Amino acid sequence: MDKVSDPAPGVQNSETDVDEPAAARRGPRHVAIIMDGNGRWAQSRGRPRLFGHHAGAKRVREVVESCSSLGVKYLTIFAFSTENWKRTQAEVAGLMSLFRRYIAKEMQALAARNVRVRFIGDRVRLDAKLTELMDQLEKTTEQNDGTQLTIALNYGGRDEVARATKRLAQDVAAGRLNPEDVDEETLPKYLDTYVLPDPDLVIRTSGEARISNFLLWQSAYAEYEFIDTLWPDFTAEEFAELCAAFGARDRRFGGIRK
Ligand code: IPE
Ligand code: IPE
Ligand code: MG
Repeated sequence: MDKVSDPAPGVQNSETDVDEPAAARRGPRHVAIIMDGNGRWAQSRGRPRLFGHHAGAKRVREVVESCSSLGVKYLTIFAFSTENWKRTQAEVAGLMSLFRRYIAKEMQALAARNVRVRFIGDRVRLDAKLTELMDQLEKTTEQNDGTQLTIALNYGGRDEVARATKRLAQDVAAGRLNPEDVDEETLPKYLDTYVLPDPDLVIRTSGEARISNFLLWQSAYAEYEFIDTLWPDFTAEEFAELCAAFGARDRRFGGIRK
């Protein structure tokens, strides 16, 4: 074999990366970020955790805006996990209020910058006011073909796979899907991310080296960067450095390079 063998079916966006010579290889097309460390950032300043969440939300705009110049077409950010309901009622309520305010405040700017926004995660547990704003933001930006921003809100990778499997089973039970046809290409069509390519690069801030139930299926062949910076300190410069470092990585997808 001269080159790396074909990537697995789930790794849709890897072909060009492995076929190009190292020097000409592109940066990541899809970056996913676990925005962690807001609470510690605030606590180190003697402030309440919510102060950190507000500071963290402010960092998002700069990162989104830097995507187009970095060639990052898809950006997916983890805002609230299915496990984050375990936090105090006050923190959860504060976060939900922040999401509502953030969407209302950023709607026009995102639309004007040609950003398309999608949400992933289970909306069932979110309040109606918030889901209305989420629908509105998706609708307002649906024609935009610039940066494709996905916000994971009440998202958990296991929950997503379970919900997907339930719908797949319903299709089988209804005779719409033959169990013999279920393969690695079938299941992702039922995931919340069905329109997105798999992430090339997953970044987690705050020094924790875990993925905390983020994009479990989709990140099978992602490159990972676990960095010490707390999310409210993350900058477009650091983002650019991580994207550049990605370009130097040798992605083999299980094959071998000559
Ligand atoms: C990430 O920051 C934001 C959410 C999970 C909502 P954290 O709130 O987890 O901050 P740390 O990890 O406690 O510092
Ligand atoms: C992951 O961070 C979720 C988000 C960034 C939204 P957590 O702070 O919730 O993860 P753990 O608890 O450290 O694993
Ligand atoms: Mg955390």
